[in-house]
Amino acid sequence: MKYINPVNTKSWNILKDHFNKIKNIHLRDLFLLDPNRFKKFSIFLENEILVDFSKNRITENTLKYLLDLAKEMNVKDAIKLMFSGAKINKTEDRSVLHIALRNRRNFPIFVDNKNIMLDVNHVLNKMKDFSDSVISGQWKGYTGKSILDVVNIGIGGSDLGPYMVTEALRPYKNHLNIHFVSNIDGTHLSEVLKKISPETTIFLIASKTFTTDETITNANSAKIWFMRYSKDKSSLDKHFFALSAHIENALNFGINIKNIFQFWNWVGGRFSLWSSAGLSIILSIGFNNFEKFLNGAHTIDNHFYNSEYEKNIPIILAVISIWYTNFFGSETEAIFPYDQYMHRFSAYFQQSNMESNGKSIDKKGQKICYQTGPIIWGEPGTNGQHAFFQLIHQGTKLIPSDFIVPILSHNNLRSHHIKLISNFLAQTKSLAFGNIEKSFFKKSISIENNIKCILNKKDENFLFKQCIGNQPTNSILVRKITPYNLGMLIALYEHKIFVQGHLLNIFSFDQWGVELGKKLAKDIYENISNLEKYESFDSSTQGLINFYRSFYK
Ligand code: F6P
Repeated sequence: MKYINPVNTKSWNILKDHFNKIKNIHLRDLFLLDPNRFKKFSIFLENEILVDFSKNRITENTLKYLLDLAKEMNVKDAIKLMFSGAKINKTEDRSVLHIALRNRRNFPIFVDNKNIMLDVNHVLNKMKDFSDSVISGQWKGYTGKSILDVVNIGIGGSDLGPYMVTEALRPYKNHLNIHFVSNIDGTHLSEVLKKISPETTIFLIASKTFTTDETITNANSAKIWFMRYSKDKSSLDKHFFALSAHIENALNFGINIKNIFQFWNWVGGRFSLWSSAGLSIILSIGFNNFEKFLNGAHTIDNHFYNSEYEKNIPIILAVISIWYTNFFGSETEAIFPYDQYMHRFSAYFQQSNMESNGKSIDKKGQKICYQTGPIIWGEPGTNGQHAFFQLIHQGTKLIPSDFIVPILSHNNLRSHHIKLISNFLAQTKSLAFGNIEKSFFKKSISIENNIKCILNKKDENFLFKQCIGNQPTNSILVRKITPYNLGMLIALYEHKIFVQGHLLNIFSFDQWGVELGKKLAKDIYENISNLEKYESFDSSTQGLINFYRSFYK
């Protein structure tokens, strides 16, 4: 596939001219000019998820030109290439096939002339048998007791996804307590060990490489803790499991081959929650719910593969993101889930997006002259409203935000949920339209309501109270946060990230930038640990090391 620099395309230059024409149009005017914006700029997907992108600073022409860019960049061909198993992760010479993990129609997908679906289904069956056995109480620990606690030891993609999903699907969880240990800070493991008994706990060591220092350090300490009680190496087989793409390393750690749940190099760490890296999810909600989760993602995979540009939600969300990042110059994108169970949703997409698109060299190895991946951030609503929304309402930054809310709650505090929805709608409305222009409201249906929102220009603090509005948002309404719908939602964002990276002409599936810090940490660890070691770092680093050491003399 040809590597195209987006700024050299015809569409990009049309967009540049178009931007200069419309950049100062206010959302108020866009809605005044066209009362049918909502109808034109929203898609109701599979009767489960409504995506309203009408509160964006776009006209019909904008969207046309943006989709022309996607067409000129051959996005649909890139999608087909990924699904075909081509090694699009060029610098690591790997396929990118998280879609195979949820390929519920089981169509053959080949990597190096082998149909990988055979392996995928083998591991799925192995995980079903194991999780059924643990959940039913059939699986016994070294003293013959059933399992009550599961500890997932992993970091990055081996932690964020499983943690986010088990939290988001709490309404579906069983009696097992699922704990997540990721930080090398001893506090993380210590606090979990206080809560569990070695007799009734299993440890999942989740690591694609099985070399990540945080994970191996935590896993070794957990093993030492466990052996202090069991005093018998063979008991490890009842309590320690590996979720990894590197069998050899797991075996060398001491994991029994039968206790290894494999995934593969064509699964990116940050897209691995659908694989055996997500075993903690299955143990938490059961295999049947996990299958529904996979089904939801598969539905979106079909949507992404088959829908034309104009109806393709990941493509639309991606081109709108490019519009803000590369034309308006916004530097961040916020994700606000108005759902407490989804409190780790934004954090998950920090890795998925920023580790994928935080690049500055293009596919031809040239330095990039335009903005690439945005900074992803966010917290659940309504809490964000009482923390940082002030800056979005009255600050100097353009902050495109995604607002996500379930229509139906799992909990029957009806008045609470109506207030949650009301806040959700009030925020996207106030961010779009502000509070200073009466003209906008003259045609509104509920004039009296809207007038209430208008600042009184005679107010002595009028200038300090005004909210200009014109902050763009996407509103995503999900019928209910179910395994199926969560699978849909995560896949939507995964594919949006893929399209963003393709349009930015960058390799989204490697992460060479994280290697330097890991290596330096090892060198500094040596320096700190060997007190007699010669001074070998810059004056700041060495000065800080010496200061740290002075407390341990
Ligand atoms: O942050 C770098 C990284 O390699 C991530 O891409 C990955 O999810 C994480 O570390 C953990 O890697 P592993 O699953 O191999 O332990």
